[in-house]
Amino acid sequence: METILSLKDVRLALEGNAGLVEILHGISLDVQKGETLGLVGPSGSGKSSLLMLMGGLERATGGEISALGNDLTQLSEDALARFRRDHMGVVFQSFHLIPTMTALENVATPLELAGHADAFERAAAELEAVGLGHRADHYPAQMSGGEQQRVALARASAPRPQILLADEPTGNLDGANGAAIIDLLFGLRDRHGATLVLVTHSNELANRCDRVVRLRDGRIDDMRKAAE
Ligand SMILES: Nc1ncnc2c1ncn2[C@@H]1O[C@H](COP(=O)(O)OP(=O)(O)O)[C@@H](O)[C@H]1O
Ligand SMILES: [Mg+2]
Repeated sequence: METILSLKDVRLALEGNAGLVEILHGISLDVQKGETLGLVGPSGSGKSSLLMLMGGLERATGGEISALGNDLTQLSEDALARFRRDHMGVVFQSFHLIPTMTALENVATPLELAGHADAFERAAAELEAVGLGHRADHYPAQMSGGEQQRVALARASAPRPQILLADEPTGNLDGANGAAIIDLLFGLRDRHGATLVLVTHSNELANRCDRVVRLRDGRIDDMRKAAE
């Protein structure tokens, strides 16, 4: 087994109304290459915060985070941005598409930034793969939530990141649209061998993962194989 993401005693403290509040109190966790890890726990337990740290979108205030052998806590902002661009795909509950860009432009832009000359062709193929070839020229506001999340998924996976992070990707969708997104997400993992960390409220979904980590009050409360 190869560890792709390694967290050692990771802490996160943020400035709140009443001063500095520690949100994550020393998280240690290894994620293996190709693994699917479900992250569960009550609202406010620190799931999103932990995912942001794993994705280099937020800086830890203590401990070490190593991803693909890079210590994220030591990288400069520029190096961190490059690392995210080259190796991480992130999907959020609320899609986060750029409203002034079409579906095609939303997917193509990160590919262009990563230097792919064929960014628009690749983006078109990615939209086709999530069943949205016919919506390429539509703007986010012209699409349903399920369609927007499929665009977001195409955008996150188009550069073939080794690590996919998803924060309650079905949280704003109804059952059928949510199920379609999950099938796409696991399909991407199967086809491209990406490592997937998935925050979810759904036990059913967590149980599709290879392993489930439960957070409580910013600590790991429980770690188990799925379906035990
Ligand atoms: N920017 C912030 N500043 C201060 N506190 C925050 C901030 N973001 C989140 N928190 C607090 O951190 C805790 C964990 O939040 P979060 O990671 O969003 O949990 P979850 O995703 O499990 O619901 C909560 O108590 C939340 O209020
Ligand atoms: Mg959250």
